[in-house]
Amino acid sequence: MAKLIDGKAYAEGLRARIAAAVASLKKDHGLTPGLAVVLVGEDPASKVYVANKAKQTVEVGMNSWEHKLPADTSEADLLALVTKLNNDPAVHGILVQMPVPKHIDSAKVLNTINPDKDVDGFHVVNVGRLSTGQDALVACTPTGCVMLAKSVLGKLDGVNAVVIGRSNIVGKPVAQLLLAENCTVTIAHSKSKDLPSIVRNADLVIAAVGRPEMVKGDWIKPGACVIDVGINRIERDGKGKLVGDCDFASCEKVAGSITPVPGGVGPMTIACLLYNTVRAACAIKGVKTPEM
Ligand code: GUN
Repeated sequence: MAKLIDGKAYAEGLRARIAAAVASLKKDHGLTPGLAVVLVGEDPASKVYVANKAKQTVEVGMNSWEHKLPADTSEADLLALVTKLNNDPAVHGILVQMPVPKHIDSAKVLNTINPDKDVDGFHVVNVGRLSTGQDALVACTPTGCVMLAKSVLGKLDGVNAVVIGRSNIVGKPVAQLLLAENCTVTIAHSKSKDLPSIVRNADLVIAAVGRPEMVKGDWIKPGACVIDVGINRIERDGKGKLVGDCDFASCEKVAGSITPVPGGVGPMTIACLLYNTVRAACAIKGVKTPEM
């Protein structure tokens, strides 16, 4: 049976290290990192995410601001708020919760954020910095995936990694991060031919397609590390249930290690957002980033 990769425990440890880093920045440099989160509209899942982000930001000792705007906010008003936050010296990280209402151009909003405050790592400048090997703020979920993979595999040099999914939020940036870790990276997706045989070559599988239980145990190379990014709500036995993109029951019999859903990658995302906020604050202030 595969070893379970406990993302909840790893994220708790990371948050404790972040809290220690924040305390030392306050003491040694009078610097309190601050994160501003912007939510437009009433999407229930987004409200929960944003509330959790604010709670955890405060828990590690950072400043937190929540800007809740009505669903009919104009694009111009949202861009004006982003510009105000860009110019606010107490704000080191800015996150505009996605999705935004349809009348707003999300790319325009994300690219208006000062790249140095772009703690989501979604700005084209950060995407470009990552893909050219320059210091970048990197998207949170991909950062969390690589931390968990390294926690079980150690150095990733030469590892055959298969990423399933090519989204801008997970698939593409996680592939770039793995390349930077010297993996041999294959990006597969919904149009890939013979996906099972591609996945069978992988020492490391990152599943980020958004299809419930698509990856089966007989696709997995014995002993491989499986990182499941999917969070899919399904009905089973008349009850609602969260499942990943991997069929956990069959995959855990073959894999060497595997993340559960929930409790795997999910808890890492906010921890990595806090991590990015500390990094952003240090870079803006010209202070060395403490170990975290
Ligand atoms: N919506 C769901 N996940 C995310 C995320 O990581 N960042 C932002 N900005 N919006 C999201």
